Amino acid sequence: MYTIVVGVDGSDGSLAALRHALEEARLRGGARIRAVMAWTYPPFALAPAPLGAGVAPVEAMDEAAMAALEDAIAAVGDPDDLHIERIVEMGRAAPVLVELSKDADLVVVGSRGHGGLSGALLGSVSQRVAGAAHCPVLVVPWHG
Ligand SMILES: Nc1ncnc2c1ncn2[C@@H]1O[C@H](COP(=O)(O)OP(=O)(O)O)[C@@H](O)[C@H]1O
Ligand SMILES: [Mg+2]
Repeated sequence: MYTIVVGVDGSDGSLAALRHALEEARLRGGARIRAVMAWTYPPFALAPAPLGAGVAPVEAMDEAAMAALEDAIAAVGDPDDLHIERIVEMGRAAPVLVELSKDADLVVVGSRGHGGLSGALLGSVSQRVAGAAHCPVLVVPWHG
């Protein structure tokens, strides 16, 4: 089945990407949609205590990411006609999406995400995925 991987970090850009992935799936008469949220520990987490103390365990981070992914799906409206597979992965977003692109027909990302420099036209995740994916990449513009 035609498989669409969509990168979701909860930002408005990623919601636009998710909406576009749903549209694309409908145009194709259905598709497998895999909504992916990658997460990493902040840099201080690996520092010795007390700097790294109080950092949430992997399970808590994973659950928080799953909750954020669920919120993002709710924000665009979980459709009745399409099934959205939820994937939460520990790791940096670009390598995670590039790896999943091996079994995908299309990867969809927003041009911008949560972080980054406000002046940048294209986020670093979008750039890396566009350059390294194993299938075509669709970058949905977001210039909020
Ligand atoms: N942690 C993440 N998990 C999944 N997808 C992500 C993640 N971070 C970014 N993306 C995808 O990449 C797009 C661009 O984000 P990014 O390149 O990080 O730009 P910015 O520098 O503005 O944050 C997002 O709209 C989203 O589709
Ligand atoms: Mg980002």
